[in-house]
Amino acid sequence: MAAPVKKRKTSLPKKTVGLAFPVKFPDISMFIVERKIQRARLDHVKNLARRKGFQVSDSLNESVTHIISELETRDQVLEVLRGRLSNDVEASLFLKDAEIVCMGWFTSCMEEGAPVQVTHGHRLKPEVKAVPTVSSSSASKTCYQDAKYCCQRITPLNHHNKKLTDALEVLEKQADFLGGDNNSSRALAFRKASTALKALPKTVRNMREVENLCDLKGGKHCKRVVQEILEEGFSSEVEDIMNDEWFQTVKIFTGVFGCGAATGRKWFDMKLRSLEDVRRCQDINLTTEQKHGLKFYDDINTPVTRHEADVIQQIVAAEAQQILPGTTVTVTGGFSRGKTTGHDVDLLISHPEEGKEEGLLAQILYALHKKDFLEYTDVQNSSYNEAAIRQVKRNQVMDHFERCFSIFRLPKRLIQDRSELNTDQSTVKLGENTLKMSPKDQANTQRPTLAEEGSGDVEDTTNKTQNQDNSDETGNADDRNVRTQSQDAGLLDSKLTPCVDSEATSLNDGVRDWVARRVDLIITPHSQYAYALMGWIGSRMFNRSIRDYANREMNMTLTSHGLFDKTKNALIPAKTQREIFEHLKLQYREPKERNC
Ligand code: CTP
Ligand code: MN
Ligand code: MN
Repeated sequence: MAAPVKKRKTSLPKKTVGLAFPVKFPDISMFIVERKIQRARLDHVKNLARRKGFQVSDSLNESVTHIISELETRDQVLEVLRGRLSNDVEASLFLKDAEIVCMGWFTSCMEEGAPVQVTHGHRLKPEVKAVPTVSSSSASKTCYQDAKYCCQRITPLNHHNKKLTDALEVLEKQADFLGGDNNSSRALAFRKASTALKALPKTVRNMREVENLCDLKGGKHCKRVVQEILEEGFSSEVEDIMNDEWFQTVKIFTGVFGCGAATGRKWFDMKLRSLEDVRRCQDINLTTEQKHGLKFYDDINTPVTRHEADVIQQIVAAEAQQILPGTTVTVTGGFSRGKTTGHDVDLLISHPEEGKEEGLLAQILYALHKKDFLEYTDVQNSSYNEAAIRQVKRNQVMDHFERCFSIFRLPKRLIQDRSELNTDQSTVKLGENTLKMSPKDQANTQRPTLAEEGSGDVEDTTNKTQNQDNSDETGNADDRNVRTQSQDAGLLDSKLTPCVDSEATSLNDGVRDWVARRVDLIITPHSQYAYALMGWIGSRMFNRSIRDYANREMNMTLTSHGLFDKTKNALIPAKTQREIFEHLKLQYREPKERNC
């Protein structure tokens, strides 16, 4: 059973409510209108102000200088307050002098630790039917950044609301850890809210700017947390979760390769609190995956760098070339969305001649294995058939490709000295031999660039020049990921081969001379390449959204294998990701814009 999250300890205990704090600003007396504010939050907000030296009046009286409200208009505030004053004359006399302001003013005061000047923007406006008072939300409704599906928005990797999304992601993680249907819906709601915030073109300062966003307006909990952070700079609920022993322990456990939330919870319930406890425990039968996960915990939980991903890609591509010239090996996943680190390396492997990819994975693995590059492999055969993609279960993420989830042994010498590796990636030094790559070679082994399919805005200028006339991503003969046979000969000459002599290199004075890295190898037939690429580029949330969109708006089923039009009862082929977007009548989004 999951341990309950501790009581909020950062908020003041109830008994301090009403305690006297030194008054720093005697000219100011705040009154906070209760309407639209939860009781607990109201207490919290009042305390906060008092701690900061403001006077907060619990009753409405003539000393009040600032009336603060979550309501949208001045008229709504007056309506609520009218009942509190004995008569209209009294009300109008008193209200004439008091400022009626939004919560944003209050927040600014708290941030400054002093009263800030009331500006036009702070004052609640009278009700004017024709002019919506919720300024940004009505505008944002028509804005593509608040489109219904996140696949329609631009979601960059580096966005303006990290503080808010980090907090929401903690809540999402906690819900994931708790498990069960209800919590997975909660997790999704947190995810959707953070995704909505990631797409906003500027930093959110005020609740009004976000409360009507498509993916936020229904979520009371999300809103409460966002509001708390906007007003106080942090969320005590989120801080409590992060300090919670259960959360921290399950987080450590789920960092073990092969340990999901359910296992993490189980280990906690068995009174295990550390990896050492798990290693020592006699009562659990660890899977092979988990044994490796525990053994290489630190390595696997150290983020993989872009550079390491490139080195691994080159090692795999070299082997693949040797086995089957023309094979393409492409870095997908987070790196293709512009991430500089990731939890693993996702390599999509294909061949421009349909059918040639069959049997390829086993051969690549054999070759890698012979050279001691593989610590652990979990191979899954292809389970693809046409029926499988016509009737996809809702929320099904797993595709049917032949694949291998592996732990790769990445020799340290290949990553330690970048000068040896040559930072422009033109030379990979393996053992005594140097593998030199011509510019064409480099183009052929590189990941799809961030700006795919020649739409410009390429971050890596080297790639841009190299890929200028190679804008097709499909693995055609002129594709950037394809090596020609003569280039292969060059590769073979360079003896990429003898880089690991298992005895000598796996142990060096008892110290490993390689690091363990998680690598996913996925094999796709050429005809499904564009769909596979899109699926493996992700993000997970982007996939979820574009699949939902296809289903609900287009009556089509989209997977990593293809697009099935349910109205026409036909599969729709696509050579590029752009074509997929076109089939779906969606504006193209670059991989770097899919960081939902
Ligand atoms: N994916 C998938 N089927 C799986 C596993 C993953 O289609 N069985 C997709 C996910 O939707 C994701 C992409 O492949 O978009 C890469 O998955 P993963 O490595 O888990 O995530 P990344 O986005 O690469 O994140 P990280 O950088 O942490 O690796
Ligand atoms: Mn990944
Ligand atoms: Mn992966």
